[in-house]
Amino acid sequence: MLSIRKKAAIIMSGCLLLVLILGYVATQFVLMPSYLALEDQMARENLTRVLNALQDEIDNLDKYVSIYAWSDDASNFIRTLNHDYIVSNLQDTNFMQIRVNAAVFTNAQDQVVYSTEYQPEYGEEIPLPSEFNASLLSVSIQSYAISLGARMNESLQARMSGLVILPEGPMLISIRHILPSNRTGPVHGNLMMGRYLDSLEMTRLEQITHVSLALHRPDDPAIPSSLFTLGKGSDGESILTVPADSKTTDAYTIIDDVSGHPIIVLQAEMPRDIYNAGVTTVEYIMASLLLAGMLFGCVSMAISEKAIFSRMAKLERDVAQIGAQGKFSSRLTVAGGDEVTRLSTSINKMLASLDESQKRFQEVKSLAAIGEAAAMVGHDLRNPLQATVGTLYLARELLVSREIDGTKKAMELLNSLDGQVYYMDKIVTDLQNYARPIGISRLETNLSELTKATISLLQIPRDVETAIETEGELTRAMIDAELLKRVLVNLVLNAVQAMPNGGKLTITTCVTQDSVIVSVQDTGVGIAAENLNKIFKPFFTTKAQGQGLGLAVCKRLVEVQGGAISVQSQLGAGSTFTIKIPTPKPTTVRAEQSPIAAS
Ligand SMILES: Nc1ncnc2c1ncn2[C@@H]1O[C@H](COP(=O)(O)OP(=O)(O)OP(=O)(O)O)[C@@H](O)[C@H]1O
Ligand SMILES: [Mg+2]
Repeated sequence: MLSIRKKAAIIMSGCLLLVLILGYVATQFVLMPSYLALEDQMARENLTRVLNALQDEIDNLDKYVSIYAWSDDASNFIRTLNHDYIVSNLQDTNFMQIRVNAAVFTNAQDQVVYSTEYQPEYGEEIPLPSEFNASLLSVSIQSYAISLGARMNESLQARMSGLVILPEGPMLISIRHILPSNRTGPVHGNLMMGRYLDSLEMTRLEQITHVSLALHRPDDPAIPSSLFTLGKGSDGESILTVPADSKTTDAYTIIDDVSGHPIIVLQAEMPRDIYNAGVTTVEYIMASLLLAGMLFGCVSMAISEKAIFSRMAKLERDVAQIGAQGKFSSRLTVAGGDEVTRLSTSINKMLASLDESQKRFQEVKSLAAIGEAAAMVGHDLRNPLQATVGTLYLARELLVSREIDGTKKAMELLNSLDGQVYYMDKIVTDLQNYARPIGISRLETNLSELTKATISLLQIPRDVETAIETEGELTRAMIDAELLKRVLVNLVLNAVQAMPNGGKLTITTCVTQDSVIVSVQDTGVGIAAENLNKIFKPFFTTKAQGQGLGLAVCKRLVEVQGGAISVQSQLGAGSTFTIKIPTPKPTTVRAEQSPIAAS
């Protein structure tokens, strides 16, 4: 069984565990989702910034296109193709400054009249495009210039710009009508300029936006397929954010070309600072909860130990001690005014009432014992009284006859009354002493003589043959003769009463080194088996005029001397009652205190 201390510790641990679980659940389902949402928002904003920066690049390119296209020189160049314009405006150095890789001039009939390409010196670390195929490049750029020029609307300041994909890689382009400087018609042709979105440009974008970038083909298996089924978000962009691992998260968006076809996927890779801040916050919260819980638990246990557990344990010890000693007059120490104190007060009240009850019970028990003793003694007095009455009657008859022999016999009879009177006096004395322990006076006694004397006190019918036998060599023992006599009288009377038609009464005495054994045997009616365990109980009788106390008295008188009484009986054949009383060595003479009244 668990102690209250252990139970409290288990409950507190359980509560702490519950708080930790609740705390963990709350952080995982409330705190972390907000961090993840913030991370998602930051990733989207970053990618949107990149897209804006890319748009700025396109606008910047377009600005150069408009500067070149809306000039009288360019208008003249379409008509005359004069070499001076090429030399002064379309040299590599010009393009290098404005980071333009290609320029295509078409006339009003959408025929390429001049195209030029500029390939800057790529650094070693730049992989895109790895090999520059001038002829292929010029073909593809020229064909874009023609097709886009054909689709340019009539507006003089019409513009088409955006991203196109070439065999060599993606390119930012912008195309405008070539107009005189006053921007009036007619349209002389179109000028398209392009700038590779190569590693150099990507690095520039990364430096501007502080975001790590990568470009992928749409069919790249590394791209999450859900990107292509994504609708436009609140920011007007189709951005998908996917955590790559615990350290980085990726944001993807599809970039369309000038015709609105998806041509490239832009990936922005960002550190998960927000998420990791969330994780750290959760760890701090959990550690704080654990620490606070443990601290609370320890402090609570210490306070409970002092205020409750130790006091309860002391209470338990004190109550157990009072219970073990049966000292209901003891009282518990009461201090303070809490439940434990009230419990102590209640226990004290209970002890007081127990003490009271015990005293009352003792009184009732004493009264009951006195009543029982009175009944027993009254019963015992009747036999010698009857004998006395009979003796006195006989003596009176003999004296009335005035015969000499009769007078002599009457004197003998009157002398024999001494024994009866002494016996009755002993019984009355026992009655007086019954409320307190009675003394057992052991004296060295000849057992067979005591038996004979006892029998002589009783009137045995003539048809009952009496035999007194002695077993063994010893005849004397240390016994209380008066108590044994009272036992013998009861057993002999019972035996005589069990033989209404006569029979044989055999009294056998046996003295051993450490006990005396006396058996009273009759050839009477015997005892029914179902009554054998009842006959020693007070007030059990099968006789019309019996009180049922004889054997109860015998049992008590024998047991008070540490002895035992037993019976063997056969219905119709007779019964044998045997008593065995332990005896001290013959030299020892002592008076013992017997708790007969209390038992
Ligand atoms: N020797 C015996 N033979 C047969 N029955 C006996 C014998 N001794 C006792 N009993 C049975 O045991 C019963 C109880 O005996 P006990 O001496 O206690 O009371 P009692 O003899 O009935 O009455 P009393 O109080 O006058 O002695 C008897 O009523 C009787 O039925
Ligand atoms: Mg009897």
